[in-house]
Amino acid sequence: MSTPILDALKKLRMQNSISFHTPGHKGRNTLINWEDYIPYIDITEIWGMDNLQDPQGIIKKSQEMAAEAFGAKYTLYSINGTTGGIYISLSAVTNPGDKILIQRNSHKSVYNGALLNRLNIEYIYPNYNKKNQVFTGVAPQDIEAKLKEDKDIKVVVITYPNYYGICSDITTIAKVVHKYDKILLVDEAHGSHFAFSESLPIPALEAGADIAVQSTHKTLASFTQSSMIHVGTDRVNIEKLIDMSSLYQSTSPSYPLMLSLEIARAYMEGEGIYKLEEALSLARHTTCRLMDINGVYVFTEDEEDSTIYHKDPMKILFRLDGITGVHLSRMLMERYHIYLEMSDYYYALALASLMNNKEDFKRLLEAVEEVAKDRYNETKPIDINIPSPNVKMPIYEAFYSNKKATDIRESIGKISASYIIPYPPGIPLICPGEEITEELHHYILQLMDIGIEIVGLIGYNKEKILVID
Ligand SMILES: Cc1ncc(COP(=O)(O)O)c(C=O)c1O
Repeated sequence: MSTPILDALKKLRMQNSISFHTPGHKGRNTLINWEDYIPYIDITEIWGMDNLQDPQGIIKKSQEMAAEAFGAKYTLYSINGTTGGIYISLSAVTNPGDKILIQRNSHKSVYNGALLNRLNIEYIYPNYNKKNQVFTGVAPQDIEAKLKEDKDIKVVVITYPNYYGICSDITTIAKVVHKYDKILLVDEAHGSHFAFSESLPIPALEAGADIAVQSTHKTLASFTQSSMIHVGTDRVNIEKLIDMSSLYQSTSPSYPLMLSLEIARAYMEGEGIYKLEEALSLARHTTCRLMDINGVYVFTEDEEDSTIYHKDPMKILFRLDGITGVHLSRMLMERYHIYLEMSDYYYALALASLMNNKEDFKRLLEAVEEVAKDRYNETKPIDINIPSPNVKMPIYEAFYSNKKATDIRESIGKISASYIIPYPPGIPLICPGEEITEELHHYILQLMDIGIEIVGLIGYNKEKILVID
């Protein structure tokens, strides 16, 4: 019997590893012991149950309870993650051919949502904080300038918080967007816990967002692929949203996933709230202790950067002198079985949730203390700012064009037919329809050199790229 997935999962379980990555449940039970329920709760829409495609009974009730807990007018479960949630939300608030304004460092799901709905894209750029080598927020005045200039923009899509936990001034952004009578759609994939502590950044809906999509599975205790779409205002047509949901979601929605959304919400009505406060205090304490280690720097704020309005303390963004974030993260995994959420040239990111306990934080701190005893000399000061795109044709036209594979060395000046995406964080460097400039070409080689996985390159050694034929 050959079961490679099972074998790998069993091996991982034996490692007694520590999770500072998603999912937010960290492999731990909350209200129910899942071992008692799997697999018998994996059922379909038999009599007495309900149908996510047309919720009338228990799913409707469960979604209503979620709406109340998250401060929404209406909540829809997405069992295809925030990816599916963004496809659904974008198609609910636009019509094919509309124009949307998005952050250039949006997640791939925003781009794919635009592609599927044949939407034309305009960009705003996040601030690149050169001093700290990190992408920070988007400025409300940049959004206003775009909306003033281009009356055709219908929807503004913001990522809040960004992958590093950095939050833009969303309240002002919502006011600006509504001043121009547009819709604010928030990719709040990493912010479902915001609703449950006063000391966390303001939740997008409370700040005035029309619609917010959250990966409940990333920062609360539901299962991977379970997300929620929250509607905050009357600007969103809920009937259209439900219609679009049936376009993008399975006709056999998973009860274990829907139940895990319900359990994650219910948990936050009791013990979960206390666990979150406890984890917040542990995360803050760990941040302070990490800062005391010689050679370690933790990014928490930059008062000179006006695009940073708030920072999620549950995302511990740290670096160690002389070593890349990628290498640091790999060392923590290989030597100490501590798995982080992501890393880039400079930083490693530990994503904590309410389910991380004292022992997890202690092991992280001790591991970094030990690693920091050695001196490293592998980094040089490089700029990681993402070059601006040179858009040659709409994303949806390029994606469906005839394509051919070209050696990456010969691709300069050609138009890309696919996404080139460093993982993590899954943010496109090049989108279909954009020119592969010399600068981008150089950037890709640099990322490969430091060991960042790049999705979109093909061939045995990832030496080819798909271009328009
Ligand atoms: C900012 C952002 N948006 C959307 C997504 C997609 O979320 P999901 O994994 O729930 O589909 C991710 C996933 O990493 C993300 O980081």
